Amino acid sequence: MKRGSESVSFIGLGYVGLCTAAVLASRGMKIIGVDIDGEKIAKLAKGETPLHEPGLGSMLKSAVKNRRIQFTTDIDRVVEADVTFITVGTPSNQDGSISLTFVKKAAEDVGSAIRGADAYHLVVVKSTVIPGTTTGLVRPVLESSSGKPCGPKLGLCSNPEFLAEGSAITNTLHPDKIVIGANDEKSGDKLVKLYQRIYRARKIPTIITNPTTAETIKYASNAFLATRVSTINTIANICQRLPSGDVETVAKAIGLDPRIGSVYLKAGPGYGGSCFHKDLQAFIAFSRGLDYDPVLLTAVEEVNRRQANEIVKLSRKLLGTLENRRIAVLGLAFKKDTDDVREAASLRVIEELVNNSASVSAYDPMAIENARKVLPQQVELATDSRSCLKGAECCILMTEWDEFRQLKPRAFKTLMRTPNIVDARRIRRQGDFQGFNYLAVGLGATMPPIPVLAAPSK
Ligand SMILES: NC(=O)c1ccc[n+]([C@@H]2O[C@H](COP(=O)([O-])OP(=O)(O)OC[C@H]3O[C@@H](n4cnc5c(N)ncnc54)[C@H](O)[C@@H]3O)[C@@H](O)[C@H]2O)c1
Repeated sequence: MKRGSESVSFIGLGYVGLCTAAVLASRGMKIIGVDIDGEKIAKLAKGETPLHEPGLGSMLKSAVKNRRIQFTTDIDRVVEADVTFITVGTPSNQDGSISLTFVKKAAEDVGSAIRGADAYHLVVVKSTVIPGTTTGLVRPVLESSSGKPCGPKLGLCSNPEFLAEGSAITNTLHPDKIVIGANDEKSGDKLVKLYQRIYRARKIPTIITNPTTAETIKYASNAFLATRVSTINTIANICQRLPSGDVETVAKAIGLDPRIGSVYLKAGPGYGGSCFHKDLQAFIAFSRGLDYDPVLLTAVEEVNRRQANEIVKLSRKLLGTLENRRIAVLGLAFKKDTDDVREAASLRVIEELVNNSASVSAYDPMAIENARKVLPQQVELATDSRSCLKGAECCILMTEWDEFRQLKPRAFKTLMRTPNIVDARRIRRQGDFQGFNYLAVGLGATMPPIPVLAAPSK
């Protein structure tokens, strides 16, 4: 790739690297996307997306067609760029602490690639890393492998990412903030200018601080959001045990208080996805290493882990025993508009159902392939909602896909053996389901189950 106005490389093309790369390419920048996964690179080079994210496909196709983006497994090509973002995964070790193996390797490889180069190169750590990583790990590794000290020829910043899967492209096009932890002034200025070129006249609130504080902001953000989820789920579990309790009304009312606010107050089956659990575990382990036990965060995780049982309890309330009962689970992705099943609540619920000898059929519009890799073999994966529902004695609505919001009550009634619904997301109204047993998270049930038995439709 020829040197142009600005060229940027990404090391690691998962949700973060790929979506950010696509948005930067759409803003006219030249992108080199690097990943160690050869299959992924081959797919991307053809303009195909290896993951489902609204808006990503068309953006990538046009970037590949216009040659604004090139994909490679050859990390040495980062030397052609002015700025390199490290966007590799930061998974958990067995004990929950963060594994920085991929970040370290990426830093080593970037350093070696720019070793002989004379031009200034800025390295940006966008992966979520525990406080102190950019300064304490990435910097020495980078300096040693590149043979240059951070300063005149080598820049370094931490720049955590706040996008959410399912809205990653929109979030990247319209971020609520940019956080930059600059190792020195020149590095910070260079990254600020890069973002100004992307967002032009729009003034995105930008926090410029040191790398350790920037890294802490990311964990604080996820800890806070996860705490909100576990708090509203706790309230939901209490409402559920009150004859006419309703968490939705409680959430609506408390959300009107500006000190609380209304977003992220939806009760459900517990948080999932690749970040909250992993990041909370990493932050807990990190804090303990600092001789501080963050009991609040441990409780947030415990509430979340138990929330799957609350959903299973609802189906048990309807069915009595789960043994040999046919249960349809609609939704496997950890939320709608993604194919990601990492840490999805559906997996915890299904595991519990299977452990109780239920017979489970499951369906998801996007996540079947990913789910197949992690679900127990005895779970039947249906090709559509209707075949998933066929013969079921209970249906658990697990993911808030529009498709499940729109499914006609008649479909449930004609296909299911017994019209029992557990709404783990509150995506339907009790009134939709006349003649059904309908139980939902955070909704107090006053009626005993209606003993309706219908023959499954052929
Ligand atoms: N997924 C999210 O919603 C999200 C949001 C904010 C922050 N983050 C953070 O961003 C980071 C990346 O997350 P993700 O979900 O995009 O990860 P991901 O697992 O989807 O993708 C990571 C990619 O990095 C590649 N990789 C690993 N080592 C490599 C190396 N040495 N060289 C080149 N490629 C390499 C992998 O093959 C993979 O394609 C993580 O730290 C995560 O916590 C994720």
